[in-house]
Amino acid sequence: MKLKIAVLPGDGVGPEVTREAVRVLRAVSDTNGYEFEFREYPIGGAAFDAEKHPLPQRTLEGCLASDAVLLGAVGGPQYDALPVELRPEAGILGLRKALGVFANLRPAIAYEAVADCSPIRPEILRGANVLIVRELLGGIYFGQPRGRDEHGAYDTMRYSPQEIERVARIAFEQARHRRHHVTSVDKANVLETSRLWRKVLSDLAGEYPDVKLDHAYVDSFAMQLIATPSRFDVVVTENLFGDVLSDESAVLSGSLGMLGSASIGGKVGLFEPIHGSAPDIAGKNIANPIGAIASSAMLLRFAAGLHRDADDVESAIALTLEKGYVTADLRSEKRKTVVTTREVGDEVERALTDLLSRRLAYHAV
Ligand code: IPM
Ligand code: MN
Repeated sequence: MKLKIAVLPGDGVGPEVTREAVRVLRAVSDTNGYEFEFREYPIGGAAFDAEKHPLPQRTLEGCLASDAVLLGAVGGPQYDALPVELRPEAGILGLRKALGVFANLRPAIAYEAVADCSPIRPEILRGANVLIVRELLGGIYFGQPRGRDEHGAYDTMRYSPQEIERVARIAFEQARHRRHHVTSVDKANVLETSRLWRKVLSDLAGEYPDVKLDHAYVDSFAMQLIATPSRFDVVVTENLFGDVLSDESAVLSGSLGMLGSASIGGKVGLFEPIHGSAPDIAGKNIANPIGAIASSAMLLRFAAGLHRDADDVESAIALTLEKGYVTADLRSEKRKTVVTTREVGDEVERALTDLLSRRLAYHAV
C-alpha cells in the first residue's frame, strides 16, 4: 500500500495538531509495512506571509498530485484587514473548490469518558453519535452575485437539484453503514432553496427504502440536537447550516477540539479538524490533537480504504480518553490533571501500535 499525503499545517495550532496526526499515520504505515509519503505545503495566513497568497499554485498542484490532503487550520486576527480573496479562509475555500469535495462528513461522538466535560446532562448524552453531512461547495458560501453597493451588502444562496442530490446520496449511503436514519435539515418554511432541498431529498428517499428519512427546520433542529441528541443518526444539510450545526454538535463531545472531518466526492479527499486556528493558545503545546487524529482515521478509511486501520485509530482515541489523557480544554471537576498536545499523541500512538501489532500477530499465526 502506497499513499501520497499532502500535509498543510496552516496557522495557529494547525502545525501542532497536524504533527500528532502525521505521527499516527506514520505508526500505521510503519507497523503494517505500508509506504506513506508526506509532503508539506503552505496554506492560509502562513502561505500569505511566505508567498503573498493563501493558496499558492505549488500547494494546489501538490494537493492535486496526492492521494489525500491533511489540513490543520487557517486564520488569525492579523489577517482580518486583508481583502477577502487574500484572507486565510480564501485558501481553504479555494482548495475545497479546486479538489471538488462537495460532501463534508463531521461525526460527533459523546465519549463516556469525557461526558462530564459537556454541559449536557449525562443521561441525555448517553449513546449520542451524530454524523453531520454538510454540503461544502454550494449555497451562500459560493453563490453569485455577492458584493456591496450604495444600499448595503448582499450574498446569494443558490442550489441546483444536482448539487443537492449528490450530497444527499452520500448521506443515505453513510446511513446504511450506521443506524439507517437520515434527518434532512432546512428552512423550507421560508427559503426557496430549502423547498427544493426538501423535494430532492423526498424524491431520492424512494431509492433507499431501508433508510428512514425525516425533515426538520434548522431552528427547531438546533434545539433538538442538544435537547435529544441520541434521536439522530445522519444529518444532511446545506453549507452554512452545516457550518453552524457542526460547531454546535461539538458540545456532545465536550470540546470543539474533538471533531475531525472528511471532505469527499472530488478528485482528492481533504481531511481536517473542524476547529479553527485558536491563535490564543498557539505554540503552547496545549491544543487538543484528537480532532486532527480523528481526521487521519477518516483519511485511512475514505482515501485509502484501510477500514481496519481506521477502526484501530478510532479505538486508540477512545482508549486514550478512557485512560484520562486529555488536554486542558477537557479539564473538569473530576479530572484536574491534564496533559500536553504531545502527550495525547504519545498515548494514542502507544495504544495504536499495541492494537496494530496484536492484529498482525493474530494474522501471522
Ligand atoms: C469550517 C470553518 C471554515 C468554514 C472557514 C475557516 C472558512 O469554519 O471548516 O467549518 O466556514 O467552512
Ligand atoms: Mn466552521
